[in-house]
Amino acid sequence: MENSNIEYNYKVVKQFAVMTVVWGIVGMLVGVVIAAQLAWPALNFDLPWLHFGRLRPLHTNAVIFAFGGCALFACSLYIVQRTCQAALLSNKLAAFVFWGWQLVIVSAAVTLPLGLTTSKEYAELEWPIDILITIVWVAYAILYFGTILKRKTRHIYVANWFFSAFIIAVAILHIFNSLALPVTLTKSYSIYAGSVDAMVQWWYGHNAVGFFLTAGFLGIMYYFVPKQAERPVYSYRLSVVHFWALIAVYVWAGPHHLHYTTLPDWAQSLGMAMSLILLAPSWGGMINGIMTLSGAWDKIRSDPILKFLIVSLSFYGMSTFEGPMMSIKSVNALSHYTDWTIGHVHSGALGWVAMISIGAMYHLLPILFGRKQGEMYSVRLIDLHFWMSTIGTVLYIASMWVNGLMQGLMWRAVNSDGTLTYSFVESVEASFPGYVVRFIGGGIFFVGMLLMAYNVWMTARAGSTVTKEAAA
Ligand code: HEM
Ligand code: HEM
Repeated sequence: MENSNIEYNYKVVKQFAVMTVVWGIVGMLVGVVIAAQLAWPALNFDLPWLHFGRLRPLHTNAVIFAFGGCALFACSLYIVQRTCQAALLSNKLAAFVFWGWQLVIVSAAVTLPLGLTTSKEYAELEWPIDILITIVWVAYAILYFGTILKRKTRHIYVANWFFSAFIIAVAILHIFNSLALPVTLTKSYSIYAGSVDAMVQWWYGHNAVGFFLTAGFLGIMYYFVPKQAERPVYSYRLSVVHFWALIAVYVWAGPHHLHYTTLPDWAQSLGMAMSLILLAPSWGGMINGIMTLSGAWDKIRSDPILKFLIVSLSFYGMSTFEGPMMSIKSVNALSHYTDWTIGHVHSGALGWVAMISIGAMYHLLPILFGRKQGEMYSVRLIDLHFWMSTIGTVLYIASMWVNGLMQGLMWRAVNSDGTLTYSFVESVEASFPGYVVRFIGGGIFFVGMLLMAYNVWMTARAGSTVTKEAAA
């Protein structure tokens, strides 16, 4: 259906898309710095605000909420307009969401290095920023669902279900996990205590993975893979089944972060069982994405954007196989506290989240800058970026697997008289080569992002924003 009269709001999409690249560079640079610090600790220069303990949450917040968040905002606000054939509910609200979210990010970037933190992982920001996040998120929900209500199509395209689940779940998770008693402007205490606090935190933490780092990015996948492959989604039936299974099961899996703790044993076992079941709906999504290419496999050879999208799905499949395995209590007894977890995180974070976002941005940016789809300044640079991302990710996760298994085995090795075979510091020493390889892998991934910035800059110089566009 032709709808060339709709004035889509591409401005906010463009703003978020450009900031995805900017925050990606910032967040990954901090990642490379902390990777270097783990190999050469003197690099904190004895300055408190450059200390690993402060930069680490800066890294996680920057890559997840700034880089990942901007990619999610850009893609969801683009996709909802195109698939509903309706402009955004309000341009003012869209501008508020953009500037509000940037303010959240800047507040995080200032407060975390200053050491202001709730100490809850992935929810470190203090209460005034938490309130700002809530306000911006509610505005985003109104903007997004308001646009869905305005739709001119009968059906709601599957990508939008995933974004809807992501928006609703993140609102609930953020509000309940952040409930706290403020004592000063920069200090608050969680209203939960002890094991309950831990359980609420990991109910939040795991669902941050499930809904922020997974459901939203599956929404991105369901739009950009068929678009880029010029093929319909492989199976709508599969998308319905794996959507409902995914959201029904994810919410129960949090206790796998708390194995062998004071959490009741039945809750740990429930978390483990649900995590094992989670393999099926996760792979449902991966299979649906990859099989969308059936009949067009040859396109992968020549299209680097498709390479980004399809390889990211392979990493998604890998990390969602590894996760259920690590949730088995006896496996977790080995993997927990080791670099294996870090390897798992980054096969999901770099391989899946970052690579699908990068692929989506390469698809989007030329359109937003008034060029045709696929007309980035240099396709060869995209191809080079693809190889750097893939090689960087593989070096990162392979070195962490080696380190993780080695650490787990060294820590549990005992002599015949029952004493420990290795001291802790010996395991740290043995981890050094792995840390150097991870630093190199991360560095390669990071330089790839710089190439992307150059490519985007050159593309931007050549065109202006399109606002009237034939609907998808
Ligand atoms: C150039 C790329 C990157 C490098 C070099 C890097 C490096 C690091 C390092 C050194 C750590 C600390 C590990 C430790 O404490 O032992 C870390 C943690 C983490 N990173 Fe990255 N990172 C990169 C990209 C990303 C991206 C793109 C994401 C998410 C989308 C991400 C998410 C995380 C998370 C969630 C953690 C915390 C893991 C945990 O607590 O288990 N990273 N990263
Ligand atoms: C079926 C899907 C998955 C399952 C069952 C799963 C399971 C697990 C398990 C068992 C751990 C280790 C917990 C511990 O020992 O403390 C873990 C850690 C983690 N996983 Fe996954 N995982 C899955 C998919 C993913 C994906 C796709 C991502 C990223 C996009 C991801 C991100 C993380 C992060 C960030 C952590 C570290 C949390 C922390 O301790 O800070 N996971 N996951």
